[in-house]
Amino acid sequence: MISAQSWTEARVHALRDVTPTVREITLKPVQGAWLHQPGGHLQMQVLVSQGVTSRPHTRSYSLIGQPDGEFYRIAVKRLDEGRGGSKAMWQLAVGDRLRISEPQNHFALDLTAPAYLLVAGGIGVTPLVGMAQVLAKRDAPVRMLFGARSLAELAYLEPLQSVLKDHLKSAIAEKGEFIDFDAELAKLPPKALMYLCGPLPMLDAARKAWTQAGRPLADLRYETFGSSGRFAPQAFRVKIPRHNLDIIVPADHGLLDELELADVQTMYDCRRGECGLCAMDVLSVDGDIDHRDVFLSDEEKASNKRICVCVSRVLGEITLDSAYRAD
Ligand code: FES
Repeated sequence: MISAQSWTEARVHALRDVTPTVREITLKPVQGAWLHQPGGHLQMQVLVSQGVTSRPHTRSYSLIGQPDGEFYRIAVKRLDEGRGGSKAMWQLAVGDRLRISEPQNHFALDLTAPAYLLVAGGIGVTPLVGMAQVLAKRDAPVRMLFGARSLAELAYLEPLQSVLKDHLKSAIAEKGEFIDFDAELAKLPPKALMYLCGPLPMLDAARKAWTQAGRPLADLRYETFGSSGRFAPQAFRVKIPRHNLDIIVPADHGLLDELELADVQTMYDCRRGECGLCAMDVLSVDGDIDHRDVFLSDEEKASNKRICVCVSRVLGEITLDSAYRAD
């Protein structure tokens, strides 16, 4: 197990490339679209190739923009070194069917703050589009910082500019531009909230500046993506003596996916390295763990005693214990 999940069917209604590496997918759920709030996401079952066959893996994608009662819009970054989900999503064609969850939200927008700073890193812009639209419509004081590798990778720039006007600032890495969190936080009034969605190094920098500015960590709300580790993904070996298991996790597959395929009962919820439900005990590691979660503390990560199997990877070989007990 396992997260309680009810699945419904949706059809791919339209495809649109919003940057050279980000494809927007419009889905039409067969039973109609539920309303969703900014920060919401869908889980979906994606067929990931496994040798000559394909198996369903669960992936999570933020919902973009405002609900219309008919369609859901998500966007998928093409990751050649990802866990296989993005490649499968990029192969979808109009008319294809897939199984999706109802909208869920672990990144809800609190509308009571005196001011907001939205921070996006690359594809992390997706949950923030709806937030910017809702906040701008309410005339809430909101600014947005948007970091990307190149100008062409600023997805949804036009709709964001149209609601945020000059309260949107971009930082283009290939031009040598970076977000100066210390300077940006100095402009933010007390009790303001920051909503950030981006890779782990961006979150680390933001969290450091936020703490140094004396702001409560509870006012920094974030989502990350588990694709951003310290090392490029490579295949690794996993043993679980309790299950007599000895498998290789391929470079383009996730550890949790492989454990599920091997029928190892594993708890999970977010599958994004945030909730900690999937953390397993490490019995030994021969090599290094690339901790890609934001749940374990720095000390826990340094001790290598637990690993969040939904996103983290290994360089070398690891021996784990599962929560399964025969009695
Ligand atoms: S399932 Fe939430 S951290 Fe892994």
